[in-house]
Amino acid sequence: MFTSLFDAKPVTQVPLQTTLYRDTKQSIDARVQDLLSQMTLKEKIGQMALVEKNSIREPDDIARYHLGGLLSGAGAKPEENTPQGWKDMIDGYQERASQSRLGIPLLYGADAIHGHALVEGATVFPHAIGLGATNNPGLVKTIAYATAQDMKATGVNWNFSPNLDVPQDIRWGRVYEAFSDDPERVSVLGAAYLRGLQDGGSANNVFVLATPKHYLGLGSMVWGTSKNKNYQIDQGVTPDNAELLQSVYLPPFKEAVDAGALSIMVGLNTWGDERIIFQKDLLTTALKEDVGFKGFLVSDWYGVHEGQRHKFWATVRAINAGVDMVMLPFDYEEFVSHVTWANRLGLISDERIDDAVGRILYAKFSLGLFDEVTENKTNSASFTNHAALAQDAVAQSLVLLKNESSVLPISQTISHVRVAGSSADNVGRQMGAWSIEWQGVDGNWVPNGTSILEGIKEKAGPQTVVEYSETGDFPQGDKKAPLGIAVVGESPYAEGWGDTMHPILSDADREAIKRLQSSCDKVVVVIVSGRPLLIENEVTSFDGLVAAWLPGTEGGGVADVLFGSKPFTGTLPLPWPRRTEQLPITTEGVTSDGTPVLFPRSFGLQYE
Ligand code: GLC
Repeated sequence: MFTSLFDAKPVTQVPLQTTLYRDTKQSIDARVQDLLSQMTLKEKIGQMALVEKNSIREPDDIARYHLGGLLSGAGAKPEENTPQGWKDMIDGYQERASQSRLGIPLLYGADAIHGHALVEGATVFPHAIGLGATNNPGLVKTIAYATAQDMKATGVNWNFSPNLDVPQDIRWGRVYEAFSDDPERVSVLGAAYLRGLQDGGSANNVFVLATPKHYLGLGSMVWGTSKNKNYQIDQGVTPDNAELLQSVYLPPFKEAVDAGALSIMVGLNTWGDERIIFQKDLLTTALKEDVGFKGFLVSDWYGVHEGQRHKFWATVRAINAGVDMVMLPFDYEEFVSHVTWANRLGLISDERIDDAVGRILYAKFSLGLFDEVTENKTNSASFTNHAALAQDAVAQSLVLLKNESSVLPISQTISHVRVAGSSADNVGRQMGAWSIEWQGVDGNWVPNGTSILEGIKEKAGPQTVVEYSETGDFPQGDKKAPLGIAVVGESPYAEGWGDTMHPILSDADREAIKRLQSSCDKVVVVIVSGRPLLIENEVTSFDGLVAAWLPGTEGGGVADVLFGSKPFTGTLPLPWPRRTEQLPITTEGVTSDGTPVLFPRSFGLQYE
């Protein structure tokens, strides 16, 4: 009879039978089976735990519990938030993991969703909605590879990206994390991003593990149904529409599986009347069996246990539904104990545990994690500056929505330009959230980056006077300036904290536009936002209108196009509604009240 929950012998005394699993000449399947056959129950269950690094109670727990992975939850950084600080932190964790009997390396995950943007000094690319506007899979793949290099250089071998959500309601706080509301555009760009992360390394190893998310239907929740009392639509209810499941939500994940996905993250939403995390027909039948997904399913944040009366039963239900790795922001000891008891009681079978752990190990072998340790490979990736690539991506992401009397491009010989607005000189607003901090930063204090204003000053002709006032307060002389540029938009937000009934311009920005209109002959409005904003009542007064989304650190890309050095090539990745009564909008562009939107998806003007 077992004296304790775990195996009778302390695992350190269980001798290794073979080391075939370390032989790089063996097939991955053979290596997985060899390792699995030698693992104790405790070692297997530990691999199913993905723990937030700030929740590790003591470093020895990494080996003691044989943890499968750690993550930097949004904003969880090392003391020294530099590439070296990250590498030292993660190397330390890997060293701890190597001290366990089998020395199984850790997966280390982070949300490098627009560059390795948690790290100070990183090149921050446009958020996905801006990449969606480029509709350029080659560019997206290149950006993903650049991101993967920065990640690899810091020891982060797992990216919780690409986002395959299909947003249909701009009141949601995560629209900007998605490429588009068009499942086809999401499928193509998502697969490109995944390949950029995974395929850039050596011929036979996955470079950085991608995780398409959030499975599934996360962009279609109904306003006011959130299960989180602080939110309105994020973590809400997606209607269980079988037709949309097949035509809209599943296709991007099928594309990702065909592109080589080895991990998929399950969303925090509810499907019909049950949280997705507990739905075996979606997680196992539809994805693992029907689509043939051979990788592992990881739960999102506190998704297994949030709002559950009994964490034990929630764990049993989620793992039996098909979750293979459980993200644990808080309590890993309890998780290990629960799964062990559930197995002993026959509530979670040995087969289910072996299947889950086999999928996780398959990803680890595919990444070459064991080989890096065995062959003591020093990874050659370096953390570099990608400003030129990012600036070009910004230029390609801009969408020209209005250009009365060809007010754009701005001439190099124009005498005087006045710039105003909340987002003109604010790299933090350009970056948006998931940058340095979970909710982002508002201001110019990042060590790198170019604000849109700085870009305008650099691009303007030598005799052009460029004046700036955030509020639009300029000396009211008798002469108007020929052109005003109002760079307006949203302060950073992430997840449900960005849910809003009224995605509109702020009063301050509206006032700044008005002041420019009174002190300039013509005004171009540039909107820096994570989503279309409702401007039906203001747009008629604009001479020019440009959607800039969340461009990241390289704001100079905006001036490149405003001054005509580069063309407008971007198109709307989703419809631009007039009012909230039109929401949600179907992927065919049908509004809820049947009226026409302000600008349809794929709209975008170009210079003659
Ligand atoms: C969050 C997000 C998910 C992210 C994860 C880890 O709750 O829903 O997109 O990858 O936690 O930070």
